[in-house]
Parts: sequence; structure tokens; C-alpha cells
Amino acid sequence: MAPISKHLLPMNSSVDTDGALRIAGLRIDALAAEYGTPLFVYDEDHIRSNCRALVAEFGVDNVVYASKAFLCKAMAALVHKEGLMLDVASGGELFVALAAGVPANRCVLHGNNKSDRELIEAIEAGVHHIVVDSFDELARLEAIHATGLPAARIQLRVTPGVHVHTHEFVATGQDDSKFGFNLTNGDAARAVALCKESKSVELLGLHCHIGSQVFAADNFTAAAKAMVEFFAPLGLEELTLGGGLGVAYLNHEPTPTYSQWGSALKEATRNLPSSARVIVEPGRSLVAATAVTIYSVGTVKNISGIRKYISVDGGMSDNPRPIMYGSGYEAFDPMRVDADRPDNARIVGKHCESGDIVILDASIPANVKVGDLMVTPVTGAYGYSMASNYNKIGRPAVVFVSNGNARLVVRREEYEDLVRLDIG
Ligand code: LLP
Repeated sequence: MAPISKHLLPMNSSVDTDGALRIAGLRIDALAAEYGTPLFVYDEDHIRSNCRALVAEFGVDNVVYASKAFLCKAMAALVHKEGLMLDVASGGELFVALAAGVPANRCVLHGNNKSDRELIEAIEAGVHHIVVDSFDELARLEAIHATGLPAARIQLRVTPGVHVHTHEFVATGQDDSKFGFNLTNGDAARAVALCKESKSVELLGLHCHIGSQVFAADNFTAAAKAMVEFFAPLGLEELTLGGGLGVAYLNHEPTPTYSQWGSALKEATRNLPSSARVIVEPGRSLVAATAVTIYSVGTVKNISGIRKYISVDGGMSDNPRPIMYGSGYEAFDPMRVDADRPDNARIVGKHCESGDIVILDASIPANVKVGDLMVTPVTGAYGYSMASNYNKIGRPAVVFVSNGNARLVVRREEYEDLVRLDIG
């Protein structure tokens, strides 16, 4: 198998004369020695460059970063500085954004089952708007308004009845979905009518998000067209068309571009009046390829006639995507980036289950041995954000690298952190 394809590596990656990987000028072995492994390394300027490309494609104020993909204070501050708004899908995500200094009016609250507390906190903080997901939520906003809080500025989440080509767990645009108001059965129209009557909400616009890791431009076009048809006669200001753009995880996969995505959406929305703002909400495509995870190899077990198992010092606790969605990744030795990968192995983690798989059937360089570093690229989205403490393994550290400098933005969890919630 060929060496790792460079399109999977962060933008500011380079290879030293001895074959070692550098990101933003820093050697991976030096980062591993300084911060330990597993370690998430983000190419900060790659994130910035993606933010700028999005703003250039969709316009300033029309890009909302779906912070569930990766959120910490440094990340919130960075995207805010680049002019993006933040989609926060819980009171916790809103808390982190505010703690990072993001003004509430640059945040959008999401969620299919927001608590009263989350709604009240969002209204009191003054979020830009709340994306309302159900009739029950509208009733709750009514009750909250009755206690004296201002009317909530809202968009209504609509399920446009579009099936996308992706894993069923991350498809959200089809009629059978827990998210949003159904367009096909008339719920969406009923919700709009309710809002227009109501004093407890100010309806700014509509929202849809059809799913994640979507490659097919025609899926985006179909959803956008259905939304435009519903939206146009209503005279509302804002139409959010979600995130969902797919990224390449494997050597042979192409990377869809923002301009391809933008063209699909622009084509579908071109007849809207210029007063209507078309907003996008990318998560994965903004951060996935900007980061890699560095692991250390701890054991190499060759079961003759069966397979080789290579165990690394992390696993499902820092990347649950393989076990949740059967997601595929590549792996390579960062000390010999350009080496062919003729060997095969199952790369597994250190957790107490057989499903703890990093890569089911990995192509790796010859003679991988205990103590080697191993890197999986494209781990910047839904990796750290879905990390857990399973087996009381502390979550990894996260560093941002830029121009030859590294800064620790999330420290590694230590043993003491594992009992900080325990009482007695
Ligand atoms: N907007 C809404 C309302 C969303 O629910 C999501 C993602 C996004 C935007 C951003 O979608 P993206 O651009 O990242 O595809 N954990 C799964 C992905 C779950 C996506 C959840 N919602 C995974 O690891 O594949």
C-alpha cells in the first residue's frame, strides 16, 4: 500500500530530510516527547484558513461553526476572531463559548430536547437565536415568556424529507427523524403559523441540517430546494442550510471543496430576494483534517495464520468513531512519512473490549515495533469532543501549533481528575 496521502495531513505539514513529519515546523517526535501520547495536534493556521475560505464562500456573518465537532476555549476564541458565529447544542457548549469570551449574540442554541434551564440561560444571555425543534419547545418558550423574560428570537428546524447517503446514525433530514418539524406532513407550516400568532417568539427564519459526512452535492441541492420552496413565500430573513459537508479520511477518498458545496447551495437559493440571508453551519469540514492523533505503540502481537494486532496507548476513549459508525482511518509512522505500507494489522486501543478498534484492517509500514509512534490523521472532528474516561483512562492533551510554536490548549487528564466528581 502507498504511503499516507498528503491530502489527509494538516495544511502546514512537511517532511524532514530524515523522513519525519513536522506540523507547523514542529517535529512530531518532539511534540510527543514534550506532551506525551496520545496527543491531539491541531494546525492552527489550517483552522484559520478554513474559516477564511468559508467566510469568502458564504459571506461574513453567514457561517456558524458547529462547535460539537471540537470545542475548547481556544477553539471558540479562534473561530470567533475569524468572524464565525458558534452553534452550541447544549447549555454546556454555550458555557464554554461564553467562558472563551464569545459574545452571546454570536451564539446559536440548538438541541432537540433543551431544558428550561438551557432555554432561560440562552434568552438571558442574549443568544443570537434559538433553533426550535418541537411544539413542546414552543410551549416551553411560551411559559418562559409568561414569567417576564423577553420574547425569544428563533429559527424553526425543519426536516425537509431528504434521505442522504451517509451512516444512518448521522442522517437527519429524512421524515423519520427525532429532529425538527416535518415538512411533508404539514407540521412545519403549523409551527410557522403558531409562531406568527405568538408573542413569546420572534421568528427570524428556518433551519435544516440533513446529516453529516455527506459527499453528494445533489443531497444538499434537494434539501435546499425543498427549503427554499417553503421559505420563499414566508418573507422571513434567515435560512440556515446546516453543515454536513464530508471530508476524506482514507487515501482514495476525495476532499469535497467549500466552493462545490457553495455552488450547490447558491444554485438552489438563487431566486431568493437579496434581503434573505443564507447561513451555513459546518463542523467536521472545518476541523477534521486540521488535526492528527499521535499514539505510541505498546504491543505487537502476531497471531500466526490469523492476524497481527498492534495496540496503541489510546483507543475508543479518544476516538469512538470506528466503534460507533464503523469509520475508517489511515495510520502511518510519523518518523517515515513517505514509507510504503506493505504490512497489515488491526490497530487496537488499550480498553477492555474487542470492539476497541482504531483501524480494523490497517496498512502500515514494515517492521512496526514497540515504542514506535503511530499517527492517525483527520481526527480533528468528533474525536476529542466525543472522548470519554472509559476504564478511567484520562483524556489526551490537545496542542495548537503555529509557526514553529506549540501551545497546550487542553491539558491531559490526570488521575486526580478522575475522582474530582466523587463524593466521600
Ligand atoms: N448543524 C447541526 C444542527 C448539526 O446537528 C450538526 C452535526 C452540524 C450542523 C455540523 O455537521 P458537520 O458539518 O459536522 O457534518 N458524531 C458524528 C457526527 C454527528 C453530527 C452531529 N450534528 C460523527 O463523528 O460522524
